[in-house]
Amino acid sequence: PPPQPAPVESTQYPYLIRRTYTYTTMSAGDSQPVVIESINAQTYHPPKREPHHPEPHVRDIAQYQELYKESIEDPDAFWGKLGRELLDWHTPFTRVTQGSFEHGDIAWYTDGYLNACYNCVDRHALKTPDAPAIIFEADEPSEGRIVSYSELLREVCKCANVLKSLGVKKGDTVAVYLPMIPETLVTLLAIVRIGAIHSVVFAGFSAESLRDRVLDADSRVVITSDEGKRGGKTIGTKRIVDDALKECPDVEHVLIFKRTGNEIPLVPGRDKWWHEEMAKFPSWCPPVMVNAEDPLFLLYTSGSTGKPKGVMHSTAGYLVGAAATTKYVFDVHPGDRMGTAGDVGWITGHTYIVYGPLLLGAATLVFEGTPAYPNFSRYWEIVERHKITQWYVAPTAIRLLKRAGDHHIKHDLSSLRVLGSVGEPIAPDVWHWYYEKVGRGKCAVVDTYWQTETGSHVLTPLPHAIPTKPGSACLPFFGIQPAIVDPVTGEELVGNDVEGVLCFRKPWPSIARTVWGAHERYLDTYMRPYKGFYFTGDGAGRDHEGYLWIRGRVDDVVNVSGHRLSTAEIEAALIHNKAVAEAAVVGVPDELTGQAVMAFICLKSGYENNEAFRRELILQVRKSIGPFAAPKALLVVNDLPKTRSGKIMRRVLRKLHAGEPLGDTSTLQDESVIEHLIEVIQQAN
Ligand code: WTA
Repeated sequence: PPPQPAPVESTQYPYLIRRTYTYTTMSAGDSQPVVIESINAQTYHPPKREPHHPEPHVRDIAQYQELYKESIEDPDAFWGKLGRELLDWHTPFTRVTQGSFEHGDIAWYTDGYLNACYNCVDRHALKTPDAPAIIFEADEPSEGRIVSYSELLREVCKCANVLKSLGVKKGDTVAVYLPMIPETLVTLLAIVRIGAIHSVVFAGFSAESLRDRVLDADSRVVITSDEGKRGGKTIGTKRIVDDALKECPDVEHVLIFKRTGNEIPLVPGRDKWWHEEMAKFPSWCPPVMVNAEDPLFLLYTSGSTGKPKGVMHSTAGYLVGAAATTKYVFDVHPGDRMGTAGDVGWITGHTYIVYGPLLLGAATLVFEGTPAYPNFSRYWEIVERHKITQWYVAPTAIRLLKRAGDHHIKHDLSSLRVLGSVGEPIAPDVWHWYYEKVGRGKCAVVDTYWQTETGSHVLTPLPHAIPTKPGSACLPFFGIQPAIVDPVTGEELVGNDVEGVLCFRKPWPSIARTVWGAHERYLDTYMRPYKGFYFTGDGAGRDHEGYLWIRGRVDDVVNVSGHRLSTAEIEAALIHNKAVAEAAVVGVPDELTGQAVMAFICLKSGYENNEAFRRELILQVRKSIGPFAAPKALLVVNDLPKTRSGKIMRRVLRKLHAGEPLGDTSTLQDESVIEHLIEVIQQAN
């Protein structure tokens, strides 16, 4: 049964739909009316092009509509042309698209052969060897450097030779647990150069999370650094790897990049230094040609259950999606310097730090630090110093900087042409601040909606073509057919002024092909909830002008500072504690992080609720998932709200916390629990 859309939790976002719906979850029989107010959102027309700026790739709305129509009516012609234009092929394809959501047999460019690294590096190194590929900004502002395309090619080749010497072959997975340094990009490109598959684990994940991902992907080689540096602090990266690998007997080699040079323990036979291995090999290694549908990478992401999914992307389709969206959504031109202030540990880093910009031969920023170190001007210093042309970041960082104050922006930001937002809804006041203070009213703000699974942007404005409304991800990218589906009947709600769950009809090139080793799970999660559609897990509305408004996850996924987390995973970490009988985790609105994790705990008898115990529980979550998953608040309660069939009603907890009316509570097993919960929540506030 399809999950239930989250209730409207705040009036922070201008939802425009005027209808009242009653959603009913089939599993819990838990129904609730959703009333959405109509608020008129302001429309911003694309900013005027400055005379010294390049001619935009898509000039106006008419051209967008024309291209969009083409992409839907004749996807073979549209994506065939882009496939040839954006990528170099060893064996050109003759077929473009095949397969369906329903059968889970999606495949693109199936008879083509190519190499991802060749497309990202070699072809630019041959043409513009001295052009900057990587702009590295280290944690300390003075320690950065620029890596040219020819230097990148040499480094990547050496690293590919090292990997071969460690026994890595085509089709093997390699785990990458690295901070944001140029060597991380070198590593990924070296892996795909020899036809292997990278599996990046965000370096903020705990040892246990790393262990699970290494085991699930069956990686035999792990690449890491001695330590990491972030916000002036040192992070014991290798120590976490050592802990993780205690339970990964199949890992044969750990390659360690020396980032800080502080003393670390080494495991003889297993651990090798990056610089020592790199020094052994020549800086040429031929790229291995792979089939268009051979896997490019795995990226683990959270879903409704506790076990993370290894989302798998294939080579050509993903690359076409990455290159096409980078080109059109950020309007990237030769010589541009793109600044994505994300981390390669998440999909945003994969697509818009590594693959998108490099495929287009642009320079890409690799930023090791944080927006607040050494002070709140750091981003704008970077933009000024490197004349960054596109800036792309999650709203959580913009909220932080808005709060810190306008006086931190005292830099020349005139190189910027496009500002992007990603990962969570951007509230109109934050959008405005970004537009006015950073963009000086001269840059388009593109609010890009997409997911690990979609590989690249699916809903987004185009900077010179699509008028924007603050808070709306606007319109579909080429080839994307959004459908708002009634969560109860599974019927598509056609026309404007509708509200439901967000699905897509018809595959696009960069959609994930499977969940690693669990294809049935892939079908169950995405393809089966609504027959004939891909289900995103998000609720959405289409307003009176056809603009799309994302309303957030309808499943048990929370979004903290743009980090995607599963409540089930956090609950599992809490229940691990011997004193915990039951746990329910919900996402609650948070001014800074968008959502924050709030945990409700029932204790087993005989255990005492005190400060030290609560601290221990929070520590447990940090240890088992990572610091970013730690509950912001943890409340010990006598009982949890449940349906008659015993299912925890997280919606009730969320509403109680927000002080909102509960709606229909007739399915509650025991109404008296409500009063108790109100009391506990009030005491905590
Ligand atoms: C959310 C991140 C509102 C959404 C690229 C989605 C957004 C989840 C937006 C995917 C946006 C992403 N507006 N919500 N512009 N972009 N989301 O896989 O809930 O880490 O399902 O990919 O982030 O998170 P993921």
